[in-house]
Amino acid sequence: MRPINEILATMDYGPSPESTSEAQAWLDRHQRRFGLFIDNEWSEPAALFVSRNPADNAPVAEITQASADDVDRAVAAARAAQPGWAAIGGHGRARLLYALARLIQKHARLFAVLETLDNGKPIRETRDIDIPLAARHFYYHAGWAQLLSQELADHRPVGVVGQIVPWNFPLLMLSWKIAPALACGNAVVFKPAEFTPLSALLFAELCQQAGIPAGVVNIVTGDGAVGEAIVTHPGIDKLAFTGSTEVGRLIRRATAGSGKKLSLELGGKSPFIVFEDADLDAAIEGLVDSIWFNQGQVCCAGSRLLVQESVEHRFLAKLRARMDRLIVGSPLDKSTDIGALVDPVQKQRISDLVQTARDEGCTVWQPSGALPDCGCFYPPTLITGASTSATVAQTEIFGPVLVAMSFRTPAEAVQLANNTVYGLASCVWTESISLALDIAPQIKAGVVWINTANQFDAACGFGGYRESGFGREGGREGLLEYLVPCAEDARPSAPSVVFAAPRVPDGSPVPGIDRTAKHYIGGKQARPDSGYSQPVYGVSGQLLGEVAAGSRKDIRNAVEAAHKQAGWAGASGHNRAQVLYYIAENLAARHAEFAARIGAMTGDANAAREVDVSIERLFTYAAWADKYDGAVHQPPMHGITAALNEPIGVIGVICPTEAPLLGLISLAAPALALGNRVIAVPSSAHPLSATDFYQVLDTSDLPGGALNIVTGDADELARVMAGHADIDAVWRHDGSVAGCAEVERLSADTLKRTWVSGGKGRDWFDDNQSAGRTFLAHASQVKNIWIPYGV
Ligand code: NAI
Repeated sequence: MRPINEILATMDYGPSPESTSEAQAWLDRHQRRFGLFIDNEWSEPAALFVSRNPADNAPVAEITQASADDVDRAVAAARAAQPGWAAIGGHGRARLLYALARLIQKHARLFAVLETLDNGKPIRETRDIDIPLAARHFYYHAGWAQLLSQELADHRPVGVVGQIVPWNFPLLMLSWKIAPALACGNAVVFKPAEFTPLSALLFAELCQQAGIPAGVVNIVTGDGAVGEAIVTHPGIDKLAFTGSTEVGRLIRRATAGSGKKLSLELGGKSPFIVFEDADLDAAIEGLVDSIWFNQGQVCCAGSRLLVQESVEHRFLAKLRARMDRLIVGSPLDKSTDIGALVDPVQKQRISDLVQTARDEGCTVWQPSGALPDCGCFYPPTLITGASTSATVAQTEIFGPVLVAMSFRTPAEAVQLANNTVYGLASCVWTESISLALDIAPQIKAGVVWINTANQFDAACGFGGYRESGFGREGGREGLLEYLVPCAEDARPSAPSVVFAAPRVPDGSPVPGIDRTAKHYIGGKQARPDSGYSQPVYGVSGQLLGEVAAGSRKDIRNAVEAAHKQAGWAGASGHNRAQVLYYIAENLAARHAEFAARIGAMTGDANAAREVDVSIERLFTYAAWADKYDGAVHQPPMHGITAALNEPIGVIGVICPTEAPLLGLISLAAPALALGNRVIAVPSSAHPLSATDFYQVLDTSDLPGGALNIVTGDADELARVMAGHADIDAVWRHDGSVAGCAEVERLSADTLKRTWVSGGKGRDWFDDNQSAGRTFLAHASQVKNIWIPYGV
């Protein structure tokens, strides 16, 4: 008898092709030419371009390139339909989303084949992963539609949503976008990628069959120009984009100052970390699922292998042996592991990057088997010997190419894992649960898979940190992207102008001993780098004092101090709460002094109330510090997914001009409560209650660097913060329309998160508008840690 290994080694698979007859019949019924789906009607096919099957380069269908007028019509249809769609109520929408889920399931095989024809991905993946997950997304969101009026009653739909997706998961990305938008009562204008429009067009037919009201779902096809027309259209209230970081940046810039809500799911260079105690064979299979799933054209592909040095050689030997057995071939064959890349453009891009690796001295290894004669195929590829700064170690390749490196200690693994501008996903392989759960929170990524890879579920949010974008898809957090808190509608259209009148100096000297307030950086008072200060006048023109004129260097120092205080993020909620209570206690002890100061600056007879509410707000966030918990999901997997609310990092805050103490505390306290470090620029007109606040902070056990205060010109300092690579988010709440737009525009370079008032005011005394979960959500990002067990 021959050993099983020998039998397996000689075993060959016969071809096992999936039939395409249903899909061909569907294409034929449409004469292989498609128009646009607007207001439940199909336009005449026009301005056609060809969509090809990348596996054999054969044309599959002709598709309409939508014009700007078409986008106009689609937006108008959505605008007209949206109020009615919201008005049918949660149950009405739940029924229709349920119908869509059922229809996707009923047409699952047709979708799977069509997707494979259009995209080149293996039928096994479209059949077992893409389409079932898409149906699951509609089921899950049918549920949310049903529950919305009880669970999120104080929210309303955003309105009309523009949605643009890439070609790597055409129907799945559609479902991630359309299902939550519809559940929340929005109408959509959706654009599939130009390479892969077919499943979206079949979905449009299902919308008709399900009885989705006209105009609620509009599908426009075409290239980036159509995307641009959607992005810049004034009738769009929110944009949801998945695609390249480069286009994400363009969209961020194009929407700056527009008031459009935005979520971006962009690229990645995700680490796949293997510790020496891992089940190496299981890790190899995980790696196959991670980097060779969908030909590596996956934003969260584990494209950087980090393997512990002690097992590196053994692991790489096993990996090469496994790569040798991967079947590259017809995507329609059920035994194919790796299908075709989406387009020759992508193949060229990948080849060029692999050549760069060779030029930079790396070793490139590919299995010896032949590729299919025609079509867009690329072999699984392993690159070793790359330095951490090598092009292939830093650039998203978006193909079946793995770059392997080694590490010695867990600390080095974390450092290498985070050595990227991206932060989408990560895998951690170890048999030690203690090690895995120690590493997971240290990795800057929105998803961490422990001893598993590329798992997705509608209940578990997905999205990135840093240049992988912002916003989440799936879960409750994903739903919030498509809703607006009703309290937002109550906000005044402009900030209160009561205190905004220009001060006219009356020539009087500073009362008492002359004192020029410095900055507060790293827990100490720091002189301004510029050496300059600026006067602060009271309401009747009397000189009240001077404050430091902050500049770029002062912000840089504050950023450094904030990063040094990483311990604040690791402190327990209880500990952070204690500090916030202590700040409140010390502020209360100096109540009269602060009230007098605010009164002198602003002339507000009610200044004492501002101090009262400031103390109350500190209590609010002390209360929240140990209660803004994450969630534990139970996706269809033997295990759990822990959704943690993590701090964003270092947040730059431009405080409102009015409510000079309360505005500062309302913004800094939620950020601090969740473990962020803050650099606050206080009211430029009335900064003295903030500079007086230093002494309260000094006596309240707040670690130096957790809250830094830099006084000066709001525009100048906001500009520096928005462009700073080591600031993770900028909030601007001083009501400057141009200033808010500038922050959004400049933030595009680093894709940091922004939260701006956009010129609107806010009643800082009102808890509905100025405290609570909305603020906490802005101060946190959800990380989903997948923990399978019993495997
Ligand atoms: P892309 O980002 O250009 O395209 C994605 C979608 O955006 C498509 O629907 C496209 O028509 C649309 N689009 C293009 N330009 C636009 C604009 N100016 N305004 C609005 N919409 C626009 O991605 P592409 O060119 O297909 O792929 C290039 C590279 O991007 C890939 O090699 C890969 O590195 C990366 N990529 C990353 C994805 C991810 O999921 N993270 C998905 C697709 C691509």
